[in-house]
Amino acid sequence: MSLPVGVLVKNGSIPWSVTGVRDCWLGGSHHNAADRQIAERILLGAPYLAHVVRIYRAFLDRVVRYLVGAGVRQFLDLGSGLPVAGNVHEVAQGLSPECRVVYVDIDPRTVAEGRSLLAESRDVVMLCADLSQPEQVLDATSRCGLLDLGAPVAVLAIEVLHYVSDANNPVESLAAYMDAVCPGSYLSVAHSDHDGTLMAGLANFRGLCRAPLTFRSLTRITGFFDRLDLVEPGIVPVPLWRPELNESLSTDPEGFSTYCGLGRKL
Ligand SMILES: C[S@@+](CC[C@H](N)C(=O)[O-])C[C@H]1O[C@@H](n2cnc3c(N)ncnc32)[C@H](O)[C@@H]1O
Repeated sequence: MSLPVGVLVKNGSIPWSVTGVRDCWLGGSHHNAADRQIAERILLGAPYLAHVVRIYRAFLDRVVRYLVGAGVRQFLDLGSGLPVAGNVHEVAQGLSPECRVVYVDIDPRTVAEGRSLLAESRDVVMLCADLSQPEQVLDATSRCGLLDLGAPVAVLAIEVLHYVSDANNPVESLAAYMDAVCPGSYLSVAHSDHDGTLMAGLANFRGLCRAPLTFRSLTRITGFFDRLDLVEPGIVPVPLWRPELNESLSTDPEGFSTYCGLGRKL
């Protein structure tokens, strides 16, 4: 199992989590005082990080909108974080109530909190699992009976693969998910490049949470889409992926070293 990014680190006596810190930046209400403290501390060294997290979330919104528009009604969201602040089921079911979503996260606190938030929700489940163990994730997904792998599924890995080291072979893991789903299914990845300002901020973050981060070059990010048909505009800096689908946050796309794409299984 890869080292969990959501690993709880003591700050004083209160545990904080990456999810809680991100929730602060996304303007949510699911975080504690320690999360807030850490979120502020990180912004001292990397003031743009909160903006980056919002840009990622706006991409998630756009890609889910696109997928629902393309007829997809099933989502497997790997490394989902908390199912709040405009996460997948909120967007998808808001557009089409019959959408079904399986969230997967490695962090037990995130999953426990997520499950309690989803208690009243229909057709959404949250699994505690490591995305680097596709057999286990697919087995648990099949046991919960929510997704029909005979119909198209969108597999999402947004802002999570830099927590998965090369030793855990994320290319192979994603290929296993895509082998399990039927033609007409999709894979979306958003991943930080190995240079640029984002890296400096995340390196600071790494110092705080001790989780190893792996940034990958554009060529390696492109490798996640092997054997898939890339949807236009291909693999581009996150702000440039179909910005017309929502109100994109203004940013300099050239200086934004995080790439995203959407591929369709033929
Ligand atoms: C940046 S956060 C949330 C990203 C979310 N996809 C989004 O777009 O908002 C990354 C999440 O991935 C989870 N995570 C990290 N490594 C993971 C792994 N190997 N398997 C499953 N989840 C993982 C963390 O616990 C964290 O909640």
